[in-house]
Order: sequence, then C-alpha cells, then structure tokens
Amino acid sequence: MSTSTIRRRPSIFAVPWRTPAGRFSWLKLVTLILCIAPVPLIGWQWATDNLGARPVHHAMLETGFWAIRFLILCLAVTPARALFDWTRVVMLRRMLGLAAAFYTFAHIVLYAADQDFALGFVLNQMLTVFYLILGTIATVGFIALSLTSTDRAMAAMGRRWKLLHRLIYPIAILSLWHFFLTQKVEIGIAAVPAGLFIFLMLWRTTLPGFRRSIGGVAILAVASVALTALGEAAWYALNSGINPWLVLDANFTTARTTAAMFVAADLVLLIVIMAGRRAQLRMARGDGKV
Ligand code: HEM
Repeated sequence: MSTSTIRRRPSIFAVPWRTPAGRFSWLKLVTLILCIAPVPLIGWQWATDNLGARPVHHAMLETGFWAIRFLILCLAVTPARALFDWTRVVMLRRMLGLAAAFYTFAHIVLYAADQDFALGFVLNQMLTVFYLILGTIATVGFIALSLTSTDRAMAAMGRRWKLLHRLIYPIAILSLWHFFLTQKVEIGIAAVPAGLFIFLMLWRTTLPGFRRSIGGVAILAVASVALTALGEAAWYALNSGINPWLVLDANFTTARTTAAMFVAADLVLLIVIMAGRRAQLRMARGDGKV
C-alpha cells in the first residue's frame, strides 16, 4: 500500500514532532523543546538554591508566569500566520495551548505543596478567595480545552469544537486578572502580558486589510501601548489612590522600564520582523521563487 493511501487515524498519542501528515518537523521539535525547557530551568534554579527562601512558593510563581507566557503565545498563532505569511505556524497552536495548561497544572500542584498538601484548606481557598476563584474558573476552562484538544474530539464535535475553544479568550482574561491581583505593590509584570493581550484582541477585531498592513499593525501597536500605560495608571489610581498623572509621567521621565515600554519594544520587534519577512517574500517573488 502506498503512503498516500494510508489514512491517518486521529490519535491523542501522535508524536508531537510530526506534522499532521506524519512527517518529521524541526519547527515542532524545537517548539516542543522550548515548551519543556522551563521545567529543567526551574529545577536547576531549585537545585542551585536560586529560588529564594521559599523554593516551592517561588516555583509556584514561576510556573504561573510560564502558563501566562504560553497562553499569550498560543493566542499569537493566528496573527503570526497572517502577518508573516507563515501557514505552518498553525501546527504549533495545540502544543502551546497544552503547555499553558501543563504549567497551570504544575502551578496548582505546587500551590498545594506550598500548603503542605492540606487539600481541604487548598480547596476552600480556591472556592472562597476572589483571586483564586478567578484562577480556578480559568483552570476548569483549561481542563475542558485540553480534554477536547485531540483530533478525535475535534472531528466528533464539529462546529461546536470551535465555539468551545473560543473559551480561550475568557480564560486569558481571568488568568490575567488573577495575575494582577497576586501582585501586591507593583503590577508592571502583569501589565506586560495584558498589553500584549490587548494588542492581540485589537488585531482580531479590526478589518483584515487594515490589520495585515504594516501601517495598520503600527497603529494597533501605538493604541496597545497607550492602553497599557492608561490601564496601569488607572489600576494604581483605583487600588492605591496614586495620582495617575505621576504613573503616566513615569513612561516619559524616569530611567525605570515601564510595562508600556516593554510592550512597545515587543511590538516594534514584531513590526521589524514583519517588514523583513515582507521584503523577503517580495524578493523571492521577483526571483520567481514564490
Ligand atoms: C486553581 C487555580 C489556581 C490557583 C489555586 C492559583 C494560586 C496562585 C497563588 C497562591 C499565587 C501566589 C499569590 C501570592 O503569592 O500572593 C498565584 C500567582 C500566580 N498565578 Fe495562579 N493560581 C491558579 C490558576 C492560575 C492560572 C490559570 C494562571 C494562568 C494561566 C495563573 C497564573 C499565575 C501567575 C502569573 C501568578 C503570579 C506569578 C508571579 O508573581 O510571578 N494561576 N497563583
């Protein structure tokens, strides 16, 4: 039987470095390695006493942050496909989503470990403390998406699969809100992924012609940076009574790197890569290769 006549059976056990057609993919292998890398990284920090006085607590915080990072990367897949004319990136979405779910799971296990596995107490906290309730709801969503992330579930659910997987947006909002509330004094670290999330959502809600152009992306980037700065100032004003003008002013006057600056740097990098990729495609077309 020729390979073209072999029908691929949907399986949850498909090796993650193969394409849907069953071919080996460097892109998938490298992404898999990057998804796993935080585990030895945190392990190494732990083994070398670099996780502070409360290593379990610190590892819990690290895994939470990695969950957010992979969640944002997962949401960036569709824009990456359109902006870089990069169809194959779609293959990475499931892996990135599962990585976010995995680090969320590790985060909760480490939280329980930090509480000496007093499971009654942990459960009680998860259902009664506001910022933990947000995390718990997001986790339930992650579980639903992970369990239905197989080819088989996708085929069986049809159009309902897409609807269910739109839950990723409320999950991201709840996770980011949870992140903000865990930051006692400075929320800058949470405002960076929130700013990138704002960019991704603005990108999705604008017209295709506009959002695919470099000018359109630049306008959305400026809007996202401004919203990050305004959001940060509003948060401090509402929660700590700090004068919002002082917080906004810090974006222009201090040597401190603000969340809006980080978001701006990320989005400038995006535009530079996008311009490079467009130039590459134009040249290839000129050579008659594309
Ligand atoms: C049952 C669900 C969850 C529980 C019980 C939980 C618990 C916690 C706790 C106790 C903290 C530390 C708070 C502190 O030190 O004051 C924390 C921080 C954090 N959690 Fe969660 N969490 C949950 C779900 C999630 C989810 C779904 C995400 C993201 C996808 C997430 C991301 C984070 C992040 C980013 C931090 C802050 C890390 C840092 O400060 O560097 N958590 N979480």
